[in-house]
Amino acid sequence: MVKQIAILGSTGSIGKNTLRVIDALGPRYQVAALSAHSSVQLLAEQTRRYEPRFVAVTKADYAERFGASCNGLDVEILAGPDGLVQIAELDQVDIVVAAVVGAAGLPAVLAAARKGKRLAVANKEPLVVAGELLKREIEKNGAAILPVDSEHSAVFQAMQSGHRDEVNRIILTASGGPFRLATAEQIRNVTVGQALAHPVWDMGPKITIDSATMMNKAFEIIEAHWLFDMPVEKIEVLIHPESIVHSLVEFVDGSMIAQLGEPDMCTPIQYALTHPARAAGIAPRLRLEDMGRLTFERPNLETFRALSLGYEVARTGGTAAAVFNAANEAAVAEFLAGRIQFTNIVELIEQCLNKHDVRPGVSLDELLEADAWARREVTELAYSV
Ligand SMILES: NC(=O)c1ccc[n+]([C@@H]2O[C@H](COP(=O)([O-])OP(=O)(O)OC[C@H]3O[C@@H](n4cnc5c(N)ncnc54)[C@H](OP(=O)(O)O)[C@@H]3O)[C@@H](O)[C@H]2O)c1
Repeated sequence: MVKQIAILGSTGSIGKNTLRVIDALGPRYQVAALSAHSSVQLLAEQTRRYEPRFVAVTKADYAERFGASCNGLDVEILAGPDGLVQIAELDQVDIVVAAVVGAAGLPAVLAAARKGKRLAVANKEPLVVAGELLKREIEKNGAAILPVDSEHSAVFQAMQSGHRDEVNRIILTASGGPFRLATAEQIRNVTVGQALAHPVWDMGPKITIDSATMMNKAFEIIEAHWLFDMPVEKIEVLIHPESIVHSLVEFVDGSMIAQLGEPDMCTPIQYALTHPARAAGIAPRLRLEDMGRLTFERPNLETFRALSLGYEVARTGGTAAAVFNAANEAAVAEFLAGRIQFTNIVELIEQCLNKHDVRPGVSLDELLEADAWARREVTELAYSV
């Protein structure tokens, strides 16, 4: 049966790779809807090529410009953030690929869950902010969530070797980013360019900075906690600079099951689309004999304070993760704009968490309120650094 796919954030790194995967999978996978925030020229090219019935332009004032470049095409244009929700809810859509960056993807991810869709989730921030709420909606409405993050795709695949209650621990691997060997002092004055130079993965700017601070791994701990219903005490992080072992699950008998492959997002994207089946795929094949050594080391918790904060936030629950995520989004924007130093990112997040009165409730309104508060707080704190 043909699967109709909506890609939220089709102009980003994950969005573009999803289209490459769909090209390779052939006519059983069709593009029903696309979205962009401001890259309207690329969105117009994608629209001409894939002929989706619906296109959302979330930055409303770019919709007109997009419309002009799509003259003559039979496409319905949805302008503004709500357009994302509308395409996530379309009856004809079977799979929603969440590839938007940040908490901006939350309303659409929730909407897709409420409509019982299959959600292929790269956009980890909604799971971090509202994991409990999202899981509840998924279960209530018979939706399915398939991880696209390479680590969580690896864990998802390894989990199929046993039962959840036979899991001893999950080990998330991390490349360590560009500053893996640096001391806390050495990273203080790194430039935006240095922080954007990831040694392995070619990704959008926000996740690349998150990888450099290791906030990305902190988010992944929370993401794994919700996706696999695992206490955080059972989720560990190991640095693996070669990024070949994408993560592991240790079962109670001591057996460790891992998923290996070249670092290429097309593999986990494709598995989230075709699961439970597998297809040939376009990612280059791993030749272990050419790899040399695969190495693993403990993370440096002194340099990468973000990791310890991630564990604390996951244990705290409630509105803490919404603050953790929003403070990070705001601080990363300040760093990319050259207004704060690299190490200020995590310092501001910690200050923000310390000032926040955590509320245990997990209503969407409370989470959004905490999110808005944290963004304001970081903007103010950034003036004083
Ligand atoms: N890249 C990876 O390899 C990778 C791996 C694992 C997980 N992820 C996760 O996947 C998500 C996307 O990452 P990415 O690297 O693909 O990011 P990216 O290249 O920056 O692309 C982000 C996408 O979201 C759109 N967007 C930006 N702001 C938006 C807003 N406020 N509302 C709606 N759409 C918005 C962008 O549109 P415009 O292009 O028009 O600005 C673009 O289509 C992130 O949550 C990231 O953590 C990425």
